[in-house]
Amino acid sequence: MKGKPDESMSEKKPDAAALTPGALPDEETLDVTLRPQALDEFIGQNKLKENLKVFIQAARKRNEPLDHCLFSAPPGLGKTTLAHIIAKELGVNLRQTSGPVLERVGDLAAILTSLGEGDVFFIDEIHRLNHAVEEALYPAMEDFALDIIIGQGPSAKTIKLSLPRFTLVGATTRAGLLTGPLRERFGIMANLDFYEEGDLAAIVERSSRILSAKTEPAAAKEIARRSRGTPRIANRLLRRVRDFADVRQDGRITPEITRGALEALEVDALGLDAVDRKILSALIDKFGGGPVGIDTIAVAVSEERDTIEDVYEPYLIKAGFLLRTPRGRVVTPLAFSHLGKTPPKSFKQSDLL
Ligand SMILES: Nc1ncnc2c1ncn2[C@@H]1O[C@H](COP(=O)(O)OP(=O)(O)OP(=O)(O)O)[C@@H](O)[C@H]1O
Ligand SMILES: [Mg+2]
Repeated sequence: MKGKPDESMSEKKPDAAALTPGALPDEETLDVTLRPQALDEFIGQNKLKENLKVFIQAARKRNEPLDHCLFSAPPGLGKTTLAHIIAKELGVNLRQTSGPVLERVGDLAAILTSLGEGDVFFIDEIHRLNHAVEEALYPAMEDFALDIIIGQGPSAKTIKLSLPRFTLVGATTRAGLLTGPLRERFGIMANLDFYEEGDLAAIVERSSRILSAKTEPAAAKEIARRSRGTPRIANRLLRRVRDFADVRQDGRITPEITRGALEALEVDALGLDAVDRKILSALIDKFGGGPVGIDTIAVAVSEERDTIEDVYEPYLIKAGFLLRTPRGRVVTPLAFSHLGKTPPKSFKQSDLL
């Protein structure tokens, strides 16, 4: 076993509204404290977990590095957590960076040449690698070699640098933006799904034990139900509800205190937050329910297009509030009824599908 994992290359995510799934800097410590350290502590995603156990065991048995892994999922579902768990289970170090941070091939070379045999190299936001770095990564992934060009013009020379064998773990919120050649070089690919309510309740109970919060089972269920299928949100809501329980009561997290706290946080009965509702309301009030292009929605609600596509839309679609059609985004009857509105006569969703 080697020294501590080096996280110096990690990049902070841009801020988003306080309750959105992206990690905020001041919540990062919490993320780390509550992060499961072993596959057995990782709740849910059972199929993926069982498969990973086999792949990790096989790699250990053969004394080979694990095949490269690609995890795709909306923010907060456990991609980074899995990368760290894989390194721990393999008994190796983890080096972490992210697509936009790796600006030059030299940056990549510096990390790759400093890896130990079998180490995990974690690239977050791997869909944002630039072309040159991505091309350099191909032989590194396939043959554990880097082609480095020394000098310029006619006297330039290419030297082949051999690298320690490593496991690349890539994470992305947008699997669709990965190029074919990069995708093909991963031996293990998995999409993480939004979590079931039961799994989220188990996550809230586990986090409660770690935080010494006295959470009643019914309250854990209530938080789980309103967490948009996302462990990071479940943990964040738990912390906020605990604040209310400490200040307004004796610290016990009951269903009543939970409901009151979530109402104060503008998280509604189905777990939608203020921005979710703003998106649906804009679609309904300004565009008769759609279809509307994503850029128009972004302007209407003053949010970045990427934030809407990465953070909000996946859950709104999964929960049945929104549809993506060839002509743009359209709300469903559930969105109208949830916001207490009546669809206009012109709104005929069946025509759009
Ligand atoms: N399966 C799980 N069991 C228990 N806790 C989990 C699980 N998945 C995620 N978490 C918790 O949720 C937090 C967020 O997870 P993580 O940082 O791995 O998400 P991510 O997919 O990397 O998100 P991002 O796209 O924003 O980087 C973790 O710190 C951990 O506390
Ligand atoms: Mg992450």
